[in-house]
Amino acid sequence: MPRSQYKGWAEGKPSIIKQHSIAKHEVLHAYLVAYMQTLVRPGQDTVNLCLVDGFAGGGRYIHEDSGKPTLGSPFVFLKAVSEAQALLSIGRKKDLAWNLDYFFVEKERSALQFLRQALSDEGYRDRIEKDVHLLSGTFDSHADDLIKEVKKKSPRTGRSIFLLDQYGYKDVPASLIKRILSELPRAEIILTFAVDSFINYASDAPKTKKILEGIDIPDLLQGRTFEDIKRNERDFRCWRASRTDPLLAVVRE
Ligand SMILES: C[S@@+](CC[C@H](N)C(=O)[O-])C[C@H]1O[C@@H](n2cnc3c(N)ncnc32)[C@H](O)[C@@H]1O
Repeated sequence: MPRSQYKGWAEGKPSIIKQHSIAKHEVLHAYLVAYMQTLVRPGQDTVNLCLVDGFAGGGRYIHEDSGKPTLGSPFVFLKAVSEAQALLSIGRKKDLAWNLDYFFVEKERSALQFLRQALSDEGYRDRIEKDVHLLSGTFDSHADDLIKEVKKKSPRTGRSIFLLDQYGYKDVPASLIKRILSELPRAEIILTFAVDSFINYASDAPKTKKILEGIDIPDLLQGRTFEDIKRNERDFRCWRASRTDPLLAVVRE
């Protein structure tokens, strides 16, 4: 069942988007444009790259406050790459050859169908099943095949970018991130982890322990208890602010 905010796609219409998600798209766009510039060295004539959107959504939204239509992360990928390609072509004598593949993974069939239509409507119809691949199912069920695709395209470096924009914090276990990073040395992963929802929910009850085990970070607290951390306001603020770095450290180990 899609979450209520995203139920639009199941009803054949755009879903609702909140302002903070628009801000996330802007950051993603700016990052992708900048990242693409780093891929081209002097004398290089081909760029091999796989771009994976592991929680793609249906591609079309209506802004919660303004009612304006806006496009989702698959389009952020496509548009940011076009922009980077245009920037990189400036002043080049010989055109770069772009050997790119996009993989958009979505669990809900209705959302994937909506995305397919949105891509067609936005002028990408001819690219579907060529360089734009739509994969139905969960990201983790496709992860091994995606790793193989990346290796096929970039056997030595595994150059790739994975956007893992999960809802909360449970769908991308640390072991999966470790696997991607260990098999693909030049992979980049952009992970959404809802630290606030986790912290609001977290306690020393066995349920939290189970969740931490489920996402393969059982040692997140490094011997401390939530009660102990939350009791100390100053510690808690620091702990909260510093959670993302240790998380990345855990998965990079
Ligand atoms: C937060 S929305 C993604 C929004 C999209 N990245 C964007 O910015 O436009 C999460 C999407 O992931 C899908 N989803 C949920 N769990 C999933 C999973 N395990 N694998 C793939 N997709 C999943 C949901 O159906 C929903 O469409």
